[in-house]
This record gives sequence, C-alpha cells and structure tokens, in this order.
Amino acid sequence: MAEILDGKWLSSTIREEIKEKVKKLKGKRLPKLVVVLVGDDPASHTYVNAKEKACKEAGFVSQVHRLNADITNDELLSLIKQLNEDVSVDGILVQMPIPKHLDSKAVILTIDPGKDVDGFHPINVGKLHSNEKTFVPCTPLGVMKLLEAYNIDVTGMNTVVLGRSHLVGRPVAQLLVNANATVTICHSRSKHIDEICRRADLVVAAVGVPHFVKKDWIKKGAVVVDVGIHRDTEGKIIGDVVSEAMEVASYMTPVPKGVGPMTIAMLLSNTWDAFEQHTKG
Ligand code: GUN
Repeated sequence: MAEILDGKWLSSTIREEIKEKVKKLKGKRLPKLVVVLVGDDPASHTYVNAKEKACKEAGFVSQVHRLNADITNDELLSLIKQLNEDVSVDGILVQMPIPKHLDSKAVILTIDPGKDVDGFHPINVGKLHSNEKTFVPCTPLGVMKLLEAYNIDVTGMNTVVLGRSHLVGRPVAQLLVNANATVTICHSRSKHIDEICRRADLVVAAVGVPHFVKKDWIKKGAVVVDVGIHRDTEGKIIGDVVSEAMEVASYMTPVPKGVGPMTIAMLLSNTWDAFEQHTKG
C-alpha cells in the first residue's frame, strides 16, 4: 500500500513558516498580493476566495479586484500597468480563464515579470527552461516540493507527465528535467499511453479526465502524483487516477488533500520571494 504524499500537512507547515517570517517584520511593510478576477465563473470565485483567505492568514496584505465580465481589454491592461507601478504591490495574479473577448496573452505579457507570482510571463517561462531561478507556476512547484519533502529523488528516474498544459504539464516536465529526471510527456495525441506509464518510476497525471489512469498502468513501487480534481456524479472529489492505484504505488497523492493544497502554499511562497526581492537593499 502506498504511503500518502500529504499535501494538506506540507501546505500547512509551509504556510506556518511564512506566517512566522511575516510576524518578524514587526511594523515594516507587509507582503502584498493583488488578485484580479474577471467575470462570474463560480470555480474561479471559489479559488480566489481561498487565495484571499490564505493571504490574510499568513499576515499578507491581500486585495482582490472583482471585475465585471464586460470589462474591455484596455481597461484590464491599464489596471495591470497601475499595479506594476504601485511599489506596495509585490505579486499580481490574474485568475484564469478570463472571458473570451479578452486577450490573455496580452494580459500575461503586461504583468511585470518581477511581480508575476504565477510564473506565466514568457521571461519567467524562459528562465525556467534555462534552469535559472525564477517564479515557477504554483501547482508544478507544489508537486516538486511534495516529492522533496518525502525525499523522493527523481535523478535518473523514468518519469511520465500526462498532459501538456502551460499551467501544469509543461512546467512540471521542465522542473523534472531540471531535477535530472528522464521525462516523457504524453498528451491527447499520444499512442500507447498505458504502456508508457507501465514503464514509469513516477507518473504525474494532469490530463483533466476523471479516473483516466488505471491501476494496471502503474508499475509496482512507482510514485504517483495526481493533479486532477473533479466531482463525480455523487459530488465526491476525485482525481485523474483511480484510487486503487494506491495498492501498487510506493507513494501517491490523495485527492483531495494532495496537490491541491500545495498550490496556495506555493502562491504564498512566491509572493514572499517577490516581497524579499522588492525590499532587499
Ligand atoms: N486558474 C487555475 N489555476 C490557476 C493558477 O494557478 N493561476 C491563475 N492565474 N489562474 C488559474
């Protein structure tokens, strides 16, 4: 039976550590994250509320701009430029997806790379690819921190990433390469995904399809990281991997309480790093 990769525990440990660092600032300027939320997508509202709550708990200053779905591109870009100029703002996050009439590429390009706590700006993506220190997208960073916390060294491991999204699959694959793993990326056009998974020492599932990965795709003793989050017909939260994979894996993330809680912890960590960069010297 797999040992659980407990994201809830690790996330709260990291959040406590950040809270302690904030307490030591005593009267000095506090880290500030500004979140921009456009429109009324219920899932996005839930995520943003959780981010706001976590910031406040850590002692950060948190501000959320909740904007109508009919805002123009120019209005959105001018808000971002204003936040770039504001020296009290350390991190800027525009919750994705944004309504279709808005240009998400222009939005990402407009955010100051030094405040891009999502790690979405091409400069930060390029730095990640060059294995330079930079802001790394929160969910992929959370995956790596979980593996590290359980002393899982991916050096030389045969790893498979399922999914090639800009949010998860691609940055996870890059982080694994940077950590000296051998990496295969599978996606919707890949053939024989089941066979590729069976050879893997580590599977990171970020396909967005409930229970896509079956128990017999997992090699005995392999590590399984499930980034998926879905609701089944009874309202239960499930992942991209069937929970029976626990019976063959050596380590596996549960869903919920696996990768999910790590995302917010990494957002706080990136915002803290941005704050340190803005206040040093
Ligand atoms: N939508 C879903 N996940 C994320 C995230 O990590 N950052 C942003 N900006 N939007 C998201």
